[in-house]
Amino acid sequence: MSGLFDVAGRSVVVTGATGALGRAASLALSSVGAKVTLAAGSAKDLDAVAEEISARGGSCVTVPRRPETLADAEAISAAAVEAFGRIDGLVVASGTNLPKMIGDMATEEWEQVMDANVRGSWLMCKSVGARMIAQGEGGKVVLVSSVRGRLGTARGYSAYCPSKSAVDGLTRSLACEWGPHKINVNAIGPTVFRSKLTEWMFREDEKGSASRIQSLPRIPLGRLGEPEDLAGILIYLMAPASDFCTGQVIYVDGGYTAG
Ligand SMILES: NC(=O)c1ccc[n+]([C@@H]2O[C@H](COP(=O)([O-])OP(=O)(O)OC[C@H]3O[C@@H](n4cnc5c(N)ncnc54)[C@H](OP(=O)(O)O)[C@@H]3O)[C@@H](O)[C@H]2O)c1
Repeated sequence: MSGLFDVAGRSVVVTGATGALGRAASLALSSVGAKVTLAAGSAKDLDAVAEEISARGGSCVTVPRRPETLADAEAISAAAVEAFGRIDGLVVASGTNLPKMIGDMATEEWEQVMDANVRGSWLMCKSVGARMIAQGEGGKVVLVSSVRGRLGTARGYSAYCPSKSAVDGLTRSLACEWGPHKINVNAIGPTVFRSKLTEWMFREDEKGSASRIQSLPRIPLGRLGEPEDLAGILIYLMAPASDFCTGQVIYVDGGYTAG
C-alpha cells in the first residue's frame, strides 16, 4: 500500500499551467516529486510558476506555447522528453470561456471556445498518447472538463457546455482506445473555482454576494472551489491508486451535480 500514491519521478506535462487550475495542478504534482513540463502562451507567467515550483524544491521546465496546432503539441511533448527522457502523465488545463447569448455570438467566437477546449485537448492527447504507446509502459491522462459538460445553464454557454461535453466524450473514447496500452484517461469536472475569471464571485461586494446567494444553496458542501481542492484528485489520477479507473468524469464540485 505504501506506493499507492507515489508519483515521484514521473514526467507530467501540464498545459494551461499558468491558469488557476493548471498552476494548482503543477504545484501539487511537483510537490510530491513529479517532474513537470509547464506549457502556456505567456513566457512571463510561466516563469513565475516555474519560480514558485523551484522555490519549493520541485523540478520543472517551461514551454511558451499553447496547443493550437499539432506542431505546438509536438513541441510541448518534445520539450518534456528532452528534459525528462519520457512522458508518464498529461494534464490538459488549457481552455477558455466566452459567455454570450447565442444570438450575440459570432461563429468565430464559438470556434474559439471549441478550439481551446476540444481541439487543444485532442491535439495534446494525440501527441502525448503516441509517445506513451511507444514507451510501452502505460500512462495517465487527465482532461479538465466541467460540471457544464453535464449541466446546461442560461448564462450564454452555448459554446462552453458543448465543448466540455465533447471533452467528456473524448475521455471515454480514448479510455476505450488506449485501454490495451494501459493508458488511463479520465477527466475532472470542477464547479466554479477561484480564478481570474471567477474572482468576482468570491468578493464580499454586492455582485459577488448576490452570485453566491444564488449558487451556494445548490452546493451541498456550501462553498465554491479553491485551486488547492484539486490536489488530491490529481495526485490520485496520476498515481498507481487509479490504475483500474479509466473513462470517468470525476466531479470536484462540492456535490453540485449530486442534487
Ligand atoms: N475556474 C473555474 O471555475 C473552472 C471550472 C470548471 C472548469 N474549468 C476549466 O479549467 C480549465 C482551466 O481553467 P482556469 O480557471 O484555470 O482558467 P484560467 O485561469 O483562465 O487559465 C487558462 C489557462 O489556459 C491558457 N489559455 C487561455 N486561453 C487559451 C486558449 N484560447 N487556448 C489555449 N490556452 C489558453 C492560459 O494561458 P495563456 O493565455 O498564457 O496561454 C492559462 O494558462 C479550463 O478548461 C476551464 O474551462 C475552470
